[in-house]
Amino acid sequence: MADGTDQKSSNQMWGGRFASGPSAIMEEINASIGFDKKLYAQDIRGSMAHATMLASKGIISPDDKDKIIEGLNTILSEIEAGTFEFSRKLEDIHMNIEARLATLIGTAAGRLHTARSRNDQVALDFRLWVKEELQKTEGMLTALIAAFLDRAEENADTVMPGFTHLQTAQPVTFGHHCMAYVEMFGRDRARVRHAIEHLDESPIGAAALAGTGYPIDRHMTAKALGFREPTRNSIDTVSDRDFALEFLSIASICATHLSRLAEEIVIWSTPQFGFIRLSDAFSTGSSIMPQKKNPDAAELVRAKTGRINGSLVALLTVMKGLPLAYSKDMQEDKEQVFDAAESLELAIAAMTGMIRDLEVRKDRMRAAAGSGYSTATDLADWLVREAGLPFRDAHHVTGNAVALAEKKGCDLADLSLEELQAIHPDITKGVFDVLSVEASVASRTSFGGTAPSEVKKQIAWWRGRN
Ligand code: ARG
Repeated sequence: MADGTDQKSSNQMWGGRFASGPSAIMEEINASIGFDKKLYAQDIRGSMAHATMLASKGIISPDDKDKIIEGLNTILSEIEAGTFEFSRKLEDIHMNIEARLATLIGTAAGRLHTARSRNDQVALDFRLWVKEELQKTEGMLTALIAAFLDRAEENADTVMPGFTHLQTAQPVTFGHHCMAYVEMFGRDRARVRHAIEHLDESPIGAAALAGTGYPIDRHMTAKALGFREPTRNSIDTVSDRDFALEFLSIASICATHLSRLAEEIVIWSTPQFGFIRLSDAFSTGSSIMPQKKNPDAAELVRAKTGRINGSLVALLTVMKGLPLAYSKDMQEDKEQVFDAAESLELAIAAMTGMIRDLEVRKDRMRAAAGSGYSTATDLADWLVREAGLPFRDAHHVTGNAVALAEKKGCDLADLSLEELQAIHPDITKGVFDVLSVEASVASRTSFGGTAPSEVKKQIAWWRGRN
């Protein structure tokens, strides 16, 4: 049947050698229209460029080309208006659109598929989609980086404990900690930009796998579709899904960064830490415990990482061991990418909102920074610098001071000069200048260090790079 809805008839697009239609199960496992309808705009754009090229090379008539373009425009508005009827019997977006085109314009529709196969068609549509998604991701990462740069600027002097093993290590500034995330998301954005460059080649015209004998102009279609150039090997073109794998790898690394940030937000917003308060807009209450404010958005960002990493592993596993060129296995590429893209967009948007809104509790950070002997390294460095001790000996002397403070239940800065001198006679009252967390932070002026002066330089560098 012309609309492909008759169960018994063979497929109108490829059914020439088939006596009957597919079984219901065959139809179900074969159909991708349920998810690849997302590619409608790319499919129509690709077909318009292809038809225009065919006409300009004299492969189809200008009249047929005009009919095709007009019909495709009608289909585009039908899909956008929600009036287009998608049919599972027509398998996928490519055949749904072509069948509708036949209904609209008659025989001219059959000329659109000259010098083209669904193999290069789907490679084109999907590449265009991934390219647009990467461009969107790039913009979203820029917004997240901007949110962090603002928080870093406001908090270049805000002292907090720095951790290793989640144990207090040395005082740092919250601005410096924010800038660590700027570096991470900046690398993600660089990976996105690189991936856009990488996939910027047009697949259309590779046909089924061997190219075509028609005098097509692949440079023309590449240019019309905004690609740098056409792909160089027709076999690779229809069997390659590196662009999807690259998207998923980048998404997984980015989601991993987001999950680390999410975890820190969860920890920092506990009453025990109390370093930050999340805005009401990005937290929820408990249905039973009225006092609670839960960091659900952060927890869900942390969890989305599981889905995104899962998609990467799924597609790697689909592609592993596939012989060249196209195999239907590759139809499984789209859902993984669509799902990961949706999750990543949500996660970046939620994180950007949380970072923009969060309240920094400087008093709590300052108090925590001063506890846990966080300036012990500063004492050791002072002994090296002012008393000429080798670092290893200074480390040992400092260990004794920490043990004494621990025994007395006080901080290093609360020990008296006499007590310190009993541990090492060369200690003078000048040592108290380095035992404060502010002095400790201000002294870390090495390139990339936590001193406010250095953090401000790094903020300025990033501001110049957006
Ligand atoms: N729906 C298919 C996919 O997503 C389109 C390509 C089908 N090609 C073919 N030779 N059966 O991969």
